Amino acid sequence: MHEPAIPSLTGADPEVARLVQAEARRQFEKIRLIASENYVSTAVLEATGSVLTNKYSEGYAGRRYYEGQQVIDPVEELAVARAKTLFGVDHANVQPYSGSPANLAVYLAFLNPGDTVMGMALPAGGHLTHGWSVSATGKWFRSVQYGVAKETGVVDLDQVRDLARAERPKVIFCGGTAIPRTIDFPAFAEIANEVGAVLAADIAHIAGLVAGGAHPSPVGHAQVITTTTHKTLRGPRGAMILTDAEHAKAIDKAVFPGLQGGPHNHTTAAIAVALGEASEPSFGLYAHAVVQNARALAAALLDRGFDLVSGGTDNHLILADLTGKGIGGKPAAKALDRAGIEANYNTVPFDPRKPFDPSGVRLGTAAITTRGLTEDHMPQLAEWIDRAVRAADDEQALDRIAAEVADLMAGYPMPGWA
Ligand SMILES: Cc1ncc(COP(=O)(O)O)c(C=O)c1O
Repeated sequence: MHEPAIPSLTGADPEVARLVQAEARRQFEKIRLIASENYVSTAVLEATGSVLTNKYSEGYAGRRYYEGQQVIDPVEELAVARAKTLFGVDHANVQPYSGSPANLAVYLAFLNPGDTVMGMALPAGGHLTHGWSVSATGKWFRSVQYGVAKETGVVDLDQVRDLARAERPKVIFCGGTAIPRTIDFPAFAEIANEVGAVLAADIAHIAGLVAGGAHPSPVGHAQVITTTTHKTLRGPRGAMILTDAEHAKAIDKAVFPGLQGGPHNHTTAAIAVALGEASEPSFGLYAHAVVQNARALAAALLDRGFDLVSGGTDNHLILADLTGKGIGGKPAAKALDRAGIEANYNTVPFDPRKPFDPSGVRLGTAAITTRGLTEDHMPQLAEWIDRAVRAADDEQALDRIAAEVADLMAGYPMPGWA
């Protein structure tokens, strides 16, 4: 049963309640390897579902356009203070509705339409909002994109430097959505400094690892740091922008009134709760366990002949090129889902296939680590993944794996399910 219980919803709208229960059960039974997902705590769920959703509060604490902010102001101040302490930054804006609007605020703060921005190309592991062609950021700005080296699968910093020197971007984004290796923030900062660009580090994927000391921090290197709050950081769906003192005002103005109206106060409260949790010593252990699990899963997959982009992982994320397994990423992801293992199909660098039917799958260990799985489980996970990919057309074989998966996961409690 969903936890907190949902008796009012069940009474008022059994149809929606049934779907919520079904999703909670699905999350309980599956091995969730989508690298951008996690399980939030029951405390975060409660804050998200609170009456704070009823309140409008355009503006910032002490400078609102609506009355009745006696409670909301301290809630936002708490979230801001916790973000500043946890990440060691001068300033935090906790209002962006999600990661994409947070990144858009960076454009609004530091660029005019048509100005040059540089980011990692989507097929190489960057995010849409780092200037990819189909995104507003690629349509309204002059975007130049860097990638990874073909031989290594990691960011080619020589290419980044050459491109920056030639194109003189006003903003450089580092970070991305399918990068299995450590981001070299000092190297990006050196390049950005040389060409006079603002360095924006998008740590959406790795924010929890940074907070927990399992990935180097961009603080002191990037003037602006954007992040979602719902991936490895294990908070609600939301985002934050962290800056040094010099860039704080421009970012605040860009978020409100530049892009958004009223902040989602229930989310702000839940972000504060998640940041409180992330400042506990146990979160550091969690962050390191996420990386250990990813390393162990990568090693077990390599043992089974999987081809991993960059040869492995330094963080929570693994990108497997399935070409050698004779199956595309999409049918593989569908087979895995039927086998109780949730992943997403993903482009790999230099992918000869189309983005909607690419060669790879992306796997992440943030959610399974929250459930309590350890390195010892990873050979078993790799065995299931291998079996499922080989038996992609055999529904009975996939169902047998799903039963084994559900059996294992039944022993690992999930916040949100009692
Ligand atoms: C690196 C990165 N930045 C930004 C985003 C956008 O976040 P959202 O989906 O919350 O808009 C994502 C989402 O996956 C991401 O991976």
